[in-house]
Amino acid sequence: MQSVRIAPSILSADFAMLGEEVRAIDAAGADWIHIDVMDGHFVPNITMGPAVVKAIRPHTTKPFDVHLMISPVDAYLDAFAEAGADTITVHVEAGPHIHRSLQHIRGLGKRAGVVLCPGTPAKMLDYLVDMVDLILVMSVNPGFGGQSFIDSQLKKIAAIRKMIDASGRTIDLEVDGGVDPITARQCIDAGADALVAGTAVFRGGRDAYAANIAALRGG
Ligand code: DX5
Ligand code: ZN
Repeated sequence: MQSVRIAPSILSADFAMLGEEVRAIDAAGADWIHIDVMDGHFVPNITMGPAVVKAIRPHTTKPFDVHLMISPVDAYLDAFAEAGADTITVHVEAGPHIHRSLQHIRGLGKRAGVVLCPGTPAKMLDYLVDMVDLILVMSVNPGFGGQSFIDSQLKKIAAIRKMIDASGRTIDLEVDGGVDPITARQCIDAGADALVAGTAVFRGGRDAYAANIAALRGG
């Protein structure tokens, strides 16, 4: 397995200076930039849309890992692709046609990601594994940063690691929510190879970002 990728969530950045914040996490060693899109409907919070993704695109060449917490989702996929998303990740719980959404993302030439909420079983992936580039396990209920890691998700991560290995395909296994240096180690041990972190990256101000990211990798 390749070394873990760290994807800082800009949900915890200073929104008044998002371009500078993206440059700072890029310089601090971020592998991907995680962008949390919320609609106040699928989740009880509202964040940013394609215009913001487009605005920050010139500030880094690192891949944009766009996590869509919106329903319906299909009508917005083209806009996020055009705005500069590299991976577009959609929730199995967000609509009746997850297979169609993933086909659509692939058709746009983007990496397709699928995400499961904490209450959703791994078996929802049985007929999707052959068409995704990334599987995201939510280790908090989506909607807000700063929540505590839900330990039961470690078992799900381990189960999905087995599914991925059995598939023989190259699929990233990412975890999102409550990831800090301690839970990061637990996720990696369970089989994760990409970690999202908001609070744990952005705390302490810009001078701390590099050390915060290094700590998530294990020092
Ligand atoms: C939650 C978001 C997460 C969140 C993580 O719905 O998907 O990406 O920003 O924040 P922390 O790392 O603070 O739990
Ligand atoms: Zn997220």
